[in-house]
Amino acid sequence: MTTLELSLGARSYPIVIGEGIVESQLRERLEAYRQAHRPIAVVTSPALFGLYRGLFKSLDEIASVIYVTSVDGEGAKSTAELVNLWETLAQAHIDRSGVLLAIGGGVVGDLGGFAAATFLRGIDFVQVPTTLLAMVDSSVGGKTAVNLAEGKNLVGAFYQPKAVIADLDFLKTLPAGEFAAGMGEVVKYGLLGDARLFETLEETNADSLAPIVRRCCEIKAAIVAADERETAGDGGRALLNLGHTFGHAIEKVAGYGSYLHGEAVAVGLMGAARLSEQLGFVPDKSVSPRVEALLAKYKLPSRLRKALPVEALAAAMASDKKVSAGTLKFVLLRSLGNAFTTRDVPAETVKNIWRELGACD
Ligand code: NAD
Ligand code: GLY
Repeated sequence: MTTLELSLGARSYPIVIGEGIVESQLRERLEAYRQAHRPIAVVTSPALFGLYRGLFKSLDEIASVIYVTSVDGEGAKSTAELVNLWETLAQAHIDRSGVLLAIGGGVVGDLGGFAAATFLRGIDFVQVPTTLLAMVDSSVGGKTAVNLAEGKNLVGAFYQPKAVIADLDFLKTLPAGEFAAGMGEVVKYGLLGDARLFETLEETNADSLAPIVRRCCEIKAAIVAADERETAGDGGRALLNLGHTFGHAIEKVAGYGSYLHGEAVAVGLMGAARLSEQLGFVPDKSVSPRVEALLAKYKLPSRLRKALPVEALAAAMASDKKVSAGTLKFVLLRSLGNAFTTRDVPAETVKNIWRELGACD
């Protein structure tokens, strides 16, 4: 087991990573809450609730309520689900001393985190990520949100958990496609901040996952500690969006659900690498072939699976929530492991990159 800290002064918290740790970690924390007469609520997804009956049975003995989302996956990040969750917390008499445990992937973490941020103007919450993507990305850093029909993550809050408990044993039941999608985010960390991590992914089969998850969390924790609310003019937390501007456009134009988030990000990483080369920022021409090979190794796409219209993709990019004052911030590379942000990217070059990624006119 290994622990690192996300340092945010009084709001600092531990990120505990290990195998087979969830029961003991929760027992310790929940016992402390119980002794302090703090009511506990749990939120999870139907898939998790079905797979981990033993865990939820033991939680049922301590928690005031276990809320299972009405649907699995992205659809659970809805305002309707949020209202149901708020009402369930109220009916279970969760008071201001209450603690919400979010046990699941990024969907449960984002929904549960936003419910915790808003219920009674904020109750404590603990993230127990169960997908690779949630372990290396969404459970760390305090971004919480639900979706609107108008777009993903449009309503949310920066609200840090009190702890993150990442038990790698959960990954044994994770479907292969979801694991691959998480690897998309892992590759992202190598590309944006750690060439050595990228090389490790090239040289090994990521069999030794704990140090890899830890490294990703370290990179994210350092970035978030320095720029919690993504307000830095250059670089900062926006670096974590490497590949995401392309990726979000793919998810929107292909229709949500056609690509897993991490798959769309993978194509986006390729787009960002190619764009960086085309604009002359990356002199080393081996970067994009290496990105392509690494994505393929971890069963991730580096091109669109089916052609999508360039104009629709460009329009979706222009409406990304990262647009401010009418311009879009791009995250580009200078080399493997070294990313930066810029707004100075010609629209025509971006369209050419979309064509390279398999988009059509
Ligand atoms: P997810 O939460 O939908 O989980 C994927 C599927 O796997 C679900 O059906 C879930 O029930 C199932 N599942 C989860 N853990 C499992 C396990 N251990 N065994 C078997 N099945 C399991 O998807 P995700 O990829 O974890 O998260 C995607 C969400 O995360 C998106 O909504 C995205 O916007 C959000 N996100 C948030 C941040 C952030 O910083 N807050 C960062 C990245 C992504
Ligand atoms: N996943 C991007 C961020 O947390 O800022």
